Amino acid sequence: MNNDLASEVRRKVDIVDIIGERIPLTARGKNFFGVCPFHDDSNPSMSVSREKQIYTCFSCHATGNVFTFLMDYEHIDFKEALHYLGEKVGVDVSNISLKKKSSKNDKLYEAYDFSVKYFQNNLSSSVGREAKKYLATRNIDDDVIKEFQIGLSLSTYDDLTKLLVKKKYDLTTLNNIGLSSDDHDIYNDRIMFPLYDVAGSVVGFSGRIYKDVSQNKYLNTKETSIFKKGEILYHYHIAKEECRLKKCVIVMEGFMDVIRASTIGIRNTVALMGTALTKQQIQLLKRLSSNIILCLDGDEAGVHATLGIGDSLLEQGIEVKVISLPDDDDPDTFILKHGENRFLGLVDSALHFSDFKIKKLREQVDFRSDEEKVSYINTVLKEAIKIDDPIHIEVMLKKLAKEFDIGYNTLEIRYNDLKSENKSKKAVSQLEIPKRQVVKKDKYIKAVEQILYFMLNNDWVISQVESEHLVLPNEQSRVLSSEIIYYYKKYGVITVADFYTYIQDKEDILELLNGILAGDYNETTTKDELFLYFSVVRDYGVKQEIKRLTNSMKKEVDPLEQAKIVEKIRKLRMGE
Ligand code: CTP
Ligand code: MN
Repeated sequence: MNNDLASEVRRKVDIVDIIGERIPLTARGKNFFGVCPFHDDSNPSMSVSREKQIYTCFSCHATGNVFTFLMDYEHIDFKEALHYLGEKVGVDVSNISLKKKSSKNDKLYEAYDFSVKYFQNNLSSSVGREAKKYLATRNIDDDVIKEFQIGLSLSTYDDLTKLLVKKKYDLTTLNNIGLSSDDHDIYNDRIMFPLYDVAGSVVGFSGRIYKDVSQNKYLNTKETSIFKKGEILYHYHIAKEECRLKKCVIVMEGFMDVIRASTIGIRNTVALMGTALTKQQIQLLKRLSSNIILCLDGDEAGVHATLGIGDSLLEQGIEVKVISLPDDDDPDTFILKHGENRFLGLVDSALHFSDFKIKKLREQVDFRSDEEKVSYINTVLKEAIKIDDPIHIEVMLKKLAKEFDIGYNTLEIRYNDLKSENKSKKAVSQLEIPKRQVVKKDKYIKAVEQILYFMLNNDWVISQVESEHLVLPNEQSRVLSSEIIYYYKKYGVITVADFYTYIQDKEDILELLNGILAGDYNETTTKDELFLYFSVVRDYGVKQEIKRLTNSMKKEVDPLEQAKIVEKIRKLRMGE
């Protein structure tokens, strides 16, 4: 393993910087707090410790060091995380080979990679002439075709299936992974757009018709173990870096829109591939940026979806803006018609979601009806209380006052009422750092976990556990304690953050370690206190042993053996 290298790199980075580059952190006391990216939340339930170089989420218990954070957040493996950080802090990491480790889905990915090449080859050969012509009418040139790995499926019925069977894929597998149906190809004579997962591997296709208009426009891969439409966003793997630079992400409906934007150098974009947005996709968006610009189609469906999606993003504490396109445009057609600068103009002048929502509401109000007017004014005020920027609020209220000829003060009073109503509703649950969840634990389990926590933080406790021959009462904790002892002997010191790297592949004890770190345990102790915990553990061990002996006695038929067991139990009870 790369343990020495890993600790060298880890010592040179500050976990607060690395996490802080990705999610906003606020300092409070010794620790930093932010919204945990690993579960659905809008409260700052993740704490990051500069001193210990670890993070812990009180809510979902995600815990770890700088490596595990990057691995989970960026969907990369350990070597990639080490490589990334090494380069960042100037440690030579050129020896690390970044080959992907094998997984049970390898064959699936391989089949998709193979299919991508096969489709690409079709498109560039003579059978692809008509498809190429179609793409040209849509201003998709060879560079774009190459960049987005666009291809073509043939009308030959079973070419791809046959090729894959030759490569030792059986038909059941091909059916399961969505490339064949019975013994023939799923995609026939369609322009093939590969769909990528968050790491950038091809996991599915969307096939578009280009001449036969009687069929469905797009045919997508069915859900498989690697393709879950609700868990991917088209272009995520490319947008990742771009969004960090541009400090925002632009969300579009179709991959054609994203492809078009890319041709004018705008790459901080993702496509929903429809108008639905799942919870998992919200999580993914949050990882890209906390500033989201919605740029869906200009039609009614697009506006409707924008209103729904905007509301659910706002609930997550995300800054949302909206680009409105003309009714008959999507980003693709708009950019084609009006070019780069006009589109960039739209991005710059994107409306705050609240203003967009108000604008849309206003279009529906019948201004002859006082009732509708009043209801509209109240709705606007309700939107205003969601806004943080006081200047923005004042502008809104002034506009409203002028438009309906109402006193500014009247509006302000109503605004303040609504605001305080809302505050008292929220104060109970939100906006405060959540308390650690208190799980009632058995006193033996508590003692065991406390001892392990002491071991991780105090070298002398490790020696005590060893010299006292303390045996912990279950397999997991025994393994963890012996790993701590082993690590300490090997490296002469122990820090939780480095120990993490060492045990990261040992899933069963990792789970225990995470539980301990998320728990509310003391860090330091005295010998007297430690021995109290030892005796709790020993007591438990004795009770377990008595239980075991009692059970075996029940099964024993030989009276002599039975007597021996009784004697053993007696001795244990007497504490001998
Ligand atoms: N979509 C789909 N099936 C359909 C229609 C749409 O899966 N029958 C998805 C596609 O992923 C598409 C997105 O919804 O990217 C947006 O649909 P639409 O706006 O109709 O596609 P466009 O991007 O406008 O595609 P094109 O310009 O090629 O018509
Ligand atoms: Mn469209």
